[in-house]
Amino acid sequence: MSTPQLVPPAALPTLRFVAAQPQHHAAIAALITTPEELFLVHPAGHFPWDDAQIAGLAASREQLTVGLLEDEVVAFANLYQVQPGVSAFIGNVIVAEAAKGRGIGQALVAHMVALCRQKLAAEPRLSVFSANSRALLLYSKLGFVPYGVEPRQDWHGNTLALIHMRHSLPDAVDAGI
Ligand SMILES: CC(C)(COP(=O)(O)OP(=O)(O)OC[C@H]1O[C@@H](n2cnc3c(N)ncnc32)[C@H](O)[C@@H]1OP(=O)(O)O)[C@@H](O)C(=O)NCCC(=O)NCCS
Repeated sequence: MSTPQLVPPAALPTLRFVAAQPQHHAAIAALITTPEELFLVHPAGHFPWDDAQIAGLAASREQLTVGLLEDEVVAFANLYQVQPGVSAFIGNVIVAEAAKGRGIGQALVAHMVALCRQKLAAEPRLSVFSANSRALLLYSKLGFVPYGVEPRQDWHGNTLALIHMRHSLPDAVDAGI
């Protein structure tokens, strides 16, 4: 089955999503510029993110996907806990600092939702820290709704709330959001 490809935002005609290859690993790692951002994207990771950690993700996760703008890596996401026919978690969602706020995150998550639904017949799920309002608003806009909350600790020992969300509106994919 071919990889679903959604129409990119009108302002970004050259944006495309492709399967990540080993030659993308260094550019993926470079998307994360602070320890705080790495904690939001991959709490188990170590800053600075590097090729070896991305190779580890390639070995343990599925559908590693990069967003390319003029052939430059500007975004990344993947799937984990994949149960075809049931559910799959979208993880490690990140957009390059200089590319944020232009619709790339929305297009990336919509692409991963389409991968889950069309390739795997799986309900898309994801987890996001409660303080990450930017990501929460994005996911909620795309049709994700909370179904659970779990306490987690940051590296200072502070307790945070990790919100689990599921995509409840399959029609949203057909609508192109
Ligand atoms: C979260 C993230 C992926 C969003 O990507 P993006 O390309 O900046 O987002 P978009 O431009 O597609 O915006 C989509 C929606 O996100 C929300 N959003 C984007 N920028 C925002 C901002 N500065 N403040 C609040 N909400 C914002 C809005 O709901 C926006 O929709 P709108 O433009 O109609 O208002 C990106 O900011 C990022 O990489 N953040 C750091 C890593 C991270 O937190 N990843 C998620 C881990 S769960």
